[in-house]
Amino acid sequence: MLATAYRLTIFRQSSLASKLTQNSFKSLRFMASAHPTAPEGYFFAGPMSAFSHETQEIFPIDTPLNKRIAIVNRKKKLSAVVNICPHQGVGLHKGECVDIEDMGITWGSAIVCASHGWSFDLETGACGNTRFVIDVHDIKVVEDNVYVSLKPKNGNIQGPRRDFGGKESDLN
Ligand code: FES
Repeated sequence: MLATAYRLTIFRQSSLASKLTQNSFKSLRFMASAHPTAPEGYFFAGPMSAFSHETQEIFPIDTPLNKRIAIVNRKKKLSAVVNICPHQGVGLHKGECVDIEDMGITWGSAIVCASHGWSFDLETGACGNTRFVIDVHDIKVVEDNVYVSLKPKNGNIQGPRRDFGGKESDLN
């Protein structure tokens, strides 16, 4: 019985992984709710291989919270942020990532919205242009599976947040 369950899990993961590379939101939603080994408070985002493309690749996914998340692979470090720019609701996955530098020293990485260039620190969610903050979620990698926390990890960072009801706006 246990062996059967194990085989089923492997089958689900491999077939879903191939769907994930096709950017199918529907299959991703299924993955998030179907994975049996997600740590408490986390959902399954996909196998590590799905996020190991070139750095700066960003993958939009739907979560069980109906909140769109972008997963960023920046210099081999994964980050997860809400995938809605608080300015006019454009998907942040359409943007690109840059280093945060000061006096020639690199302090971190930011995601830059493709629409009007607002940038957001991938660690704190703070905007470099305004007082807005975007939610940043914790990521755990367990046995090559990537899990994202259901709750944001940057709740202590003050600033207005706006998620447009979890939907990308038509304004872009
Ligand atoms: S919509 Fe993102 S900066 Fe304007």
